[in-house]
Amino acid sequence: MQDVLEVRDINKTFKAKAGNVTAVDKVSLRARRGEVTVIVGPSGSGKTTLLYIIGSLESPDSGEINVFGEDVARSETDLISYRRQRIGFVFQFFNLIPALTGLENVMLPMDLCSVPASAQNDRAVQLLERMGIDGRLQKARVNKMSGGEKQRVAIARALANDPDIILADEPTGNLDSATGKLVVDILVELAREDGKCVIIVTHDESILAVADWAYHMQDGRLKGIETGS
Ligand SMILES: Nc1ncnc2c1ncn2[C@@H]1O[C@H](COP(=O)(O)OP(=O)(O)OP(=O)(O)O)[C@@H](O)[C@H]1O
Ligand SMILES: [Mg+2]
Repeated sequence: MQDVLEVRDINKTFKAKAGNVTAVDKVSLRARRGEVTVIVGPSGSGKTTLLYIIGSLESPDSGEINVFGEDVARSETDLISYRRQRIGFVFQFFNLIPALTGLENVMLPMDLCSVPASAQNDRAVQLLERMGIDGRLQKARVNKMSGGEKQRVAIARALANDPDIILADEPTGNLDSATGKLVVDILVELAREDGKCVIIVTHDESILAVADWAYHMQDGRLKGIETGS
């Protein structure tokens, strides 16, 4: 399988009066199409910071992110288009716009990529149907939805611009275990059936069971774990 993502020697230190925190310490990682990478680690170990750096929501102090062999950080414009077109984010607290409907939330990222309105609508409907969000729910405001419904809308939104890479930060953290399992199953399916490169960071070690590649993060450092797969 082709390498989609190569993360090389990433460092990030937050400077604060109380002392500096090295959130990411010389992290390197490769991830490929069709595979699920799971990173587990305790609170404060640097998982979110690493994921945000990979998705260019945060900038590293040093190191490089290559996607399909190209450095993504050549200019601010490159970073914006990288984030919009290559990356789909799934967050613990969903980060949907509460006053908008499910459909509108999924159409929004397509709007940013200048997809024509009718195509936006068709694609959003198709993605939401795939996530099991039916016509009635598609038109409901997301603040009326259950956690599992919100997360399925959020996954549909992450897929809006057909990204190569799905980055999920604690995607089950706010869900009961059955709903969490369903969400993990969807993320795995996106890797296996759609060939997405899926990276999940979590406290929840049970998610390691679905990993093709597994890592433990501690004090900003990443260490490989045998997955047995
Ligand atoms: N913007 C920031 N400014 C200062 N320090 C920060 C900032 N963001 C993160 N940190 C610090 O960096 C370290 C790593 O934080 P991070 O949020 O990446 O951890 P995490 O593994 O995602 O934790 P959790 O499991 O609780 O979500 C922590 O010590 C945190 O306090
Ligand atoms: Mg975190």
